[in-house]
Amino acid sequence: NVLILDFGGQYNQLIARRVRECQVYCEVVPYHVSAEKVKEINPVGIIFSGGPASVYAEGAPQCDPAIFDMGIPVLGICYGGQLMARHYGGSVNRAEKREYGKVGLQFQGKSTIFEGLPEGLISWMSHTDFIDRAPEGFSITAATPDCPVAAMEDPQRKAYALQFHPEVEHTQQGIDIIRNFLYKVCQCTGDWTTGNLIEEAIDTIRQQVGDRKVLCALSGGVDSSVAAVLVHRAIGDKLTCVFVDHGLLRKNEGDQVEDLFTNKFHLNFIRVNAQERFLAGLAGVTEPEAKRKFIGETFIRVFEEEASRLGEMDFLVQGTLYPDIIESGTDTAAVIKSHHNVGGLPEDMKFQLIEPFKYLFKDEVRAIGAALGIPDEVVWRQPFPGPGLAVRILGEITEEKLHIVREADAVVREEIKKAGLDRDIWQYFAVLPGIKSVGVMGDERTYSHTVAIRAITSSDAMTADWARIPHDVLAAMANRIVNEVDQVNRVVYDITSKPPATVEWE
Ligand code: XMP
Repeated sequence: NVLILDFGGQYNQLIARRVRECQVYCEVVPYHVSAEKVKEINPVGIIFSGGPASVYAEGAPQCDPAIFDMGIPVLGICYGGQLMARHYGGSVNRAEKREYGKVGLQFQGKSTIFEGLPEGLISWMSHTDFIDRAPEGFSITAATPDCPVAAMEDPQRKAYALQFHPEVEHTQQGIDIIRNFLYKVCQCTGDWTTGNLIEEAIDTIRQQVGDRKVLCALSGGVDSSVAAVLVHRAIGDKLTCVFVDHGLLRKNEGDQVEDLFTNKFHLNFIRVNAQERFLAGLAGVTEPEAKRKFIGETFIRVFEEEASRLGEMDFLVQGTLYPDIIESGTDTAAVIKSHHNVGGLPEDMKFQLIEPFKYLFKDEVRAIGAALGIPDEVVWRQPFPGPGLAVRILGEITEEKLHIVREADAVVREEIKKAGLDRDIWQYFAVLPGIKSVGVMGDERTYSHTVAIRAITSSDAMTADWARIPHDVLAAMANRIVNEVDQVNRVVYDITSKPPATVEWE
């Protein structure tokens, strides 16, 4: 067991994810955890995360200093490393030149945590302050042209600090640094697996639920489907899955989900046809956050109504993932958009939430799904947002626009599948920007809708790049869309990455 102390950095859950990738169990705890609590947990290693504060600032987060004296190896990353430097009597200062981005490391001497790594390794720096003098007893193990202490360590005290972020993808072989710390310094064996995670989640859910009843908000997507199967493993028929057809689903999706859950999985399954209610409530709504909030709230109202119809239901299962939480805004992260299952929840909601994946990323949930024996067709479905086509129609939602985007989307999906690209491309879909332009068809002037195709590659949807779909596949899509979908005379391809754009248009 490894503990990660959270000092509010952007990449904290990525640290946890990397530790899990090294097959070591870890927990993220707030930075102010007491030394007694740490003793109780008895971790073999501790990682201090980065954070936005300056260690000298008033009210800057500090850990219980006794943690440094417990003989447990500590790896401090960025802010965490600066805190360590300060604790042991080194000094931290504002860097003359802020470093941000990729920088090559020059190693100095030998370090256990850099074993096997090449000189000049690219590291991802993102800081204003830096350690300008290492404490006594520490040796500097890496530097960059603008950062005299890019890494330092005192193996005697089992203390290691990095100025850069080994957890982000941009640090080459960053995971090897973390693995060296875990295996060579903390002596972890790396025998923790997805199977353990499933067992632990099942135990926790059983304890949490007891004899009470649970409702699962099922969309038929990867996350909620895997959550449903996992919770069913834990508590059996105390679980009822409710699938709300809000009229914003893709072509034939409602029937497919119903078929899958009633005929393949043996779960209590209820389909609620709430198309009219959602569309009526969305009439005239154009502002993206207003759409999201309405949909999030209406989902919960429908679940509450179903719950009272079924008799007391205390818990609501959601397949929330870590990126949903981060982008909906936390104490330290800004609101990007309110994911329907987080920022869109009403304040007076009566359910207690069960969110077994709230610290996980999509590919980890896919691995759990596969380990639970869920078929590939579900585990490898492309992600589809809870608010559905509502966030792919800009401006007001109408039946007519829904029809256009649904048909265009079906074409995009068929062509991607036909080209065998459905596993390589993270998401691929059609968007209706709500603009009309002039065209010519059969010698006649047309004035019709533009459809945008959006397709991205990603590993967790936190960042994404537009997919380099072969031109002939794009051509086939464009051709079919203008020919087969009424009222469309133009197709464009969205070539922005995230950031600065997002995956969905709203
Ligand atoms: P954005 O558009 O924020 O999307 O870059 C990131 C990923 O999240 C999906 N998404 C959602 N998923 N509820 C969901 O379940 C939502 O409200 C929501 N909004 C966006 C999006 O499809 C992409 O995979």
